[in-house]
Amino acid sequence: MTTFDTSIPPTASPEAEFISLSHLNPSTELEPIPSRGIDLTYFRRYVRSLEEGGYDYTLLPYGSGTADSFVTASAVGQLTERIKPIVALRPNTTFPTVGAQKLATLDQLTEGRAVVHIISGGNDAEQARQGDYLPKAKRYARTSEYVDLLRRSWTEPAPFSHDGEFYKFDEFGPGFAPYAGSIPISIGGQSDEAFAVGGAKADIFSFWGEPLADLRSEIDRVHQLARDAGRTTLPRIWVTFRPIIAQTDELAWRKAHEYVKLVEANFSRYTGKPQNVGSQRALDFANRSDLYDRALWTRTAAVTNAAGASTALVGSPETVAAAILDYIDQGASLVSIRGYDTLADAVDYGRYVLPLVRQELAHRKTTGQRGRLQAEHLGNYAPEYGEFATAVRS
Ligand SMILES: Cc1cc2nc3c(=O)[nH]c(=O)nc-3n(C[C@H](O)[C@H](O)[C@H](O)COP(=O)(O)O)c2cc1C
Repeated sequence: MTTFDTSIPPTASPEAEFISLSHLNPSTELEPIPSRGIDLTYFRRYVRSLEEGGYDYTLLPYGSGTADSFVTASAVGQLTERIKPIVALRPNTTFPTVGAQKLATLDQLTEGRAVVHIISGGNDAEQARQGDYLPKAKRYARTSEYVDLLRRSWTEPAPFSHDGEFYKFDEFGPGFAPYAGSIPISIGGQSDEAFAVGGAKADIFSFWGEPLADLRSEIDRVHQLARDAGRTTLPRIWVTFRPIIAQTDELAWRKAHEYVKLVEANFSRYTGKPQNVGSQRALDFANRSDLYDRALWTRTAAVTNAAGASTALVGSPETVAAAILDYIDQGASLVSIRGYDTLADAVDYGRYVLPLVRQELAHRKTTGQRGRLQAEHLGNYAPEYGEFATAVRS
């Protein structure tokens, strides 16, 4: 990057909101604490730190062995005033009219802050743990029917019956309504089926962090599918990273290499080809290169077999903020950042990263030009960064 173009790319999102995943106890990938429990003091502190740090949303993840995401989302709603709980919801676990009712209840209890992230299920064995034996393509077909039924349950003014491929009921409604009309629906997944449903129906389509050019073509793909479905409002784009920050790029690299050793020691049991396309893609990127673009690092994906969000952004707060802006320039408007040192990182990002991104976006709004952050904090576009990245490795 020798010259810096101050014009704002046509693909850039004019605004960005921040998400973090909620952790229920202090166990981390750096230092796992064997416990399945909720540490309420910790959880309270964590979600309040998100609120104080200026995050906009928090994801309550779902797995067959995790806490229930509706219950934790409801707690987030009561422990905070402003951040929006995103409930991860698998259609096989909750009948659609009941899902609509639970979400509307959460939305009323939080005065309009509920969001739902529909998970179709990326792993057959995990789905079977709760009695779901549909193959993945059918699971996405079920998601499609589910999304239609959620929206209809929220808005239909009179009782209605339904006889679909996956669900059947008589004379439901009018259902319990959301606080103000509807609730944003996000879809996650990277298979062709995920794109088809997400493009046609999602308010938000979510990704794990990928190289910029790859993400750009994935955004084009989902937006084209949305246009093909006749939509004029395109899905918002959510992208997820695991940043590793320190005062300087060099110090961040030292930390990154310490972290990856710990994560590898704790997670080496994960092997074999993952069934979900998102993880397969992350592993492909990791096999091709450790480093991409300004600051994207894939070693953390490689050592965890890309189970869950695993690609990192490494550098000073300025470098990582500039890297996030690179993704905003590609059209991302929801940025999920969650660290390896979960609570401390949430606080640090709120203090040091979010304000830089917001300052740049405010600058763009008032001047119509890009500011200097991306020009001055080059990360991997400057030679010494690559040296830090490899020098401290041995
Ligand atoms: C941002 C994001 C968050 C996700 N959260 C969860 C989760 O909480 N629980 C889960 O089982 N899957 C989660 N997933 C996985 C997917 O939603 C999806 O079920 C899986 O990737 C489907 O496989 P596919 O990529 O082959 O379509 C998440 C995915 C993304 C992109």
